[in-house]
Amino acid sequence: MQVLGVDIGGSGIKGAIVDTTDGAFVTERLRIETPQPSKPEAVAAVVGDISAHFDWNSAIGCTVPAVVKRGVTMTAANVDSTWIGADAKGLLETATGNPVLVLNDADAAGVAEMKFGAGRERDGLVAILTLGTGIGSSLFIDGRLVPNTELGHLIIRGKDAEERATDRARQQRGYSWKQWGKRVSEYLEYLESLITPDLFIIGGGVSKRHQKFFPYLKCQTEVLPAQLRNRAGIVGAAVAAVDM
Ligand code: BGC
Repeated sequence: MQVLGVDIGGSGIKGAIVDTTDGAFVTERLRIETPQPSKPEAVAAVVGDISAHFDWNSAIGCTVPAVVKRGVTMTAANVDSTWIGADAKGLLETATGNPVLVLNDADAAGVAEMKFGAGRERDGLVAILTLGTGIGSSLFIDGRLVPNTELGHLIIRGKDAEERATDRARQQRGYSWKQWGKRVSEYLEYLESLITPDLFIIGGGVSKRHQKFFPYLKCQTEVLPAQLRNRAGIVGAAVAAVDM
């Protein structure tokens, strides 16, 4: 089945038609800058443009950097605060004229990784963490998603983990790979003490440089780099929409 996957981020909105049987892009990826301010209506209009660009008349899966309950966005990370309480599903369906499944960006990335990437055929408890501007988390128990976990906001040494273990923190604070790797390790060790997972998968753009910081990870749990990289959100959104 083919589904249009859309990934809404703080700086770009990306879409492509995905073959949900193998996770491959059937089209080129289209990227449009996120409007500023990134209010729900303005962002929905861009998703409408993406849908029109692909001449799309079928299901859409769409990520947002937010907690999503029954199509309503409950938080807003790196997008306008008016997303809090917005009927994201309704806005996107009106803008595109198509049925839309809306889900958290990290949950979508996790869905893609579990189906086509590092989590394939892995059972037990798998925790996928995307280390980017924020920390996104998704949890899978025997392959089934537990949505909206927000484990990136655990408090470590009195601070939100996002202030220590994101790629943004690494760049802004000029951490060496060793300094940053130790902070990521501390975060994973804390998470491990709370949920005892069977596998950690580290995603986000920085995961392609995993050789630089994985040597500093001291947790007991197996850790693997994500495989789908920047395709994960689009692919996961499309796959999640199949069940809609
Ligand atoms: C948000 C999550 C989101 C993650 C990645 C965090 O700040 O709280 O909802 O998944 O950033 O965008």
